[in-house]
Amino acid sequence: MEPTTNAVPKHLGIIMDGNRRFAKRLMIKPWQGHEWGAKKLKDVLSWCRDLGVKELTLYAFSIENFDRPKQEFDYLMGLFRDEFRDLYTPENVTKLQQEGVRVNVLGRIGMFPADVQDAMRKVMDATQKNAPYVVNFAMAYGGRAEIIDATRKVAQLVKDGTLDVDKINEDVFQKQLYTESEPDLIIRTSGEQRISGFMLWQGSYAELFFCKNNWPDFSKEDLLEAIASYNHRDRRFGK
Ligand code: FPP
Repeated sequence: MEPTTNAVPKHLGIIMDGNRRFAKRLMIKPWQGHEWGAKKLKDVLSWCRDLGVKELTLYAFSIENFDRPKQEFDYLMGLFRDEFRDLYTPENVTKLQQEGVRVNVLGRIGMFPADVQDAMRKVMDATQKNAPYVVNFAMAYGGRAEIIDATRKVAQLVKDGTLDVDKINEDVFQKQLYTESEPDLIIRTSGEQRISGFMLWQGSYAELFFCKNNWPDFSKEDLLEAIASYNHRDRRFGK
């Protein structure tokens, strides 16, 4: 089949799955798989930037993930806090500025422990004016929760008298989501073939690519294969 486009996706979504299965294979503690996952994340960020991807949305922690066993949960909170604190060191803030990277956390951030929230907000505040790259971490995230949160905002606008009920349409609604930006391609690792609530609204027309490797094993070849597959898709948007 001939490629229909010859471009990398502008906005790439990734569901990073399979950290614990990776750990099991290595016979290390399940939660240690997340540390390998965090290392992989750094590689993937630079591969994507080098390839010309302008926006990355990474599904890092769902609302359901708050029910993980306590030891794993505490480990993950420590990992998130340390990773965001590391991004906020003066050297890394300067690097993010020079490279033009804006970092967002999309989700119900208030669910996280105070120290994690604080670390996240510092990085977001320090990078909000950066362009042209956007890195979104979907954390304390759920696609249904996002739609509920947007609905609440729309309802509030109506209640305040700033929005007429008859004026509610897709554009108006989309503006109230955590992000308006729509992913062109969504990759899920670990062989699972489902979306699990990731970007339910924004991903309506995204192409999907399912990769067998667990997230810590995700390779540059896997990324290139996903992009090559994306290039062979005939994106018709229902037309
Ligand atoms: C899914 O694998 C992964 C998670 C729930 C956590 C993701 C965390 C990272 C990739 C660490 C880095 C993130 C940041 C923001 C620094 P799983 O635990 O569900 O694995 P399984 O499917 O094998 O059980």
